[in-house]
Amino acid sequence: MLDIEFTKPVPPSAGALVLLVAEGAKPAGVWQTVDETTGGAISRAFEAAEFKGGKGKTCTILAPGAGLSRVVAVGLGKEGDISTRSLEEAGGHAAAALTRDAAAAIDAAALTAVQATSVAFGAVLRAYRFDRYRTKEKAEDKPKLTRLTVLTAEPDQARAAWAEQRDVANGVYLTRDLVSEPPNVLHPAELAERCRSLAGLGVDVQVLAPEQLQKLGFGALLGVAQGSVNEPRVVVMRWDGAGGKEKPVAFVGKGVTFDSGGISIKPAAGMEDMKWDMAGAGTVIGLMAALAGRKANVDAVGVVGLVENMPSGAAQRPGDVVRSLSGQTIEVLNTDAEGRLVLADILTYCQQTFDPRAVIDLATLTGAIIIALGHDRAGLFSNNDELAQRLEAAGQATGEKLWRMPLDESYDKQLKSDIADMKNIGGRPAGSITAAQFIQRFVDKRPWAHLDIAGVAWGTKDSPLAAKGATSFGVRLLDRLVAEHYES
Ligand code: BES
Ligand code: MN
Ligand code: ZN
Repeated sequence: MLDIEFTKPVPPSAGALVLLVAEGAKPAGVWQTVDETTGGAISRAFEAAEFKGGKGKTCTILAPGAGLSRVVAVGLGKEGDISTRSLEEAGGHAAAALTRDAAAAIDAAALTAVQATSVAFGAVLRAYRFDRYRTKEKAEDKPKLTRLTVLTAEPDQARAAWAEQRDVANGVYLTRDLVSEPPNVLHPAELAERCRSLAGLGVDVQVLAPEQLQKLGFGALLGVAQGSVNEPRVVVMRWDGAGGKEKPVAFVGKGVTFDSGGISIKPAAGMEDMKWDMAGAGTVIGLMAALAGRKANVDAVGVVGLVENMPSGAAQRPGDVVRSLSGQTIEVLNTDAEGRLVLADILTYCQQTFDPRAVIDLATLTGAIIIALGHDRAGLFSNNDELAQRLEAAGQATGEKLWRMPLDESYDKQLKSDIADMKNIGGRPAGSITAAQFIQRFVDKRPWAHLDIAGVAWGTKDSPLAAKGATSFGVRLLDRLVAEHYES
């Protein structure tokens, strides 16, 4: 991760400098000094590039003088529109423009200490890169930036505020690492091993192996897993930051390390995307790392169901009937509707074992949610208006936005089976809603929310806070939810 330092505003005499420029702002402080020491090079470049500080606009000036390799100006837009999110994005734009220097300074002297940390946070998020399997990239092509110095009038306050943000960024990085890994490497047992690393942060990690799952009765999850040579795992992660005496808040994640569809096999085109069908689990794991890292004052539990969905002679067939941990039977009419089968059992286990005060599940559950909401918002389903509103607000605050979708008995009827308690598909209409109705059958009366993140877990192009690839959607949202409502 980028090294972040905070110092009093002094113009740097080498490397790169980032100026944050609001629309219509006049040169002041470091900006004014550098403009003067470079004989007006900054003002002339802004003029020539027609750079006026528009939101998200950037202007790079090479070798302007005064020892600087470059000045990158990032537009903040109108002064009155500046928000935490827009400052994070400005940091992200800066990081994207800064790859050629080892060190850079960002002038944040016009901002408060906390605002300055938002800029740093955005830069750190955008600078993430999954590099593990590039063996031939030339050194000169690799991003060089390793240290970012944030110039602020209140470095002590900024440092204190940064400590917690850095822990959240660590969680984001962990999630992105997991979601980016190829499926031959990150099979269920390997993902469970990666969860064990959270023990170093004080998280209690328990791994359930197939024999235990069998004995306990995880029939729905095991049905999905049975076609793969890679055995399933269920991992339970506990962070007792409030002493472990209260009912915990629970996070439950779908962790299909590869979803071929099984016997109801998917088409070849795009099937590689199904390596990130474990993003729900990846988010829960990164969230637990964030909460433990910043020593959140909360009792939280994360439960992830890790399986690979493969076709083989041993695979589950369309028409099979499985008995879930809840006792309810399910007719599996499409083996590609596997996420709900996994969630059914881990939700039951989570509620039976921990009696949580609220439970939130995350899953790349349906292609239909992409048809409904595209890639800008995740689907939110909930049986509890208060929880739903809290989630929507946390989404708005972090920019990981949600859109609430309906639940209704009328949709539930689509799940009626001729021979079992339910079938695992509800037909083409309202595919994301019938999937959520299915999951709700495994939730007792407690507050519950389901986030369908199929459209937001992976970016096919760069965005201000994440280069193309894993987004880690949900880590910041749920960290925020916990901070606002579940910490004592
Ligand atoms: N993992 C997929 C959903 C998905 C699709 C995630 C595209 C990300 C991108 C899920 O297991 C699935 O296959 N769902 C089916 C359900 C259908 C068979 C009822 C789908 O959406 O087509
Ligand atoms: Mn599937
Ligand atoms: Zn899936």
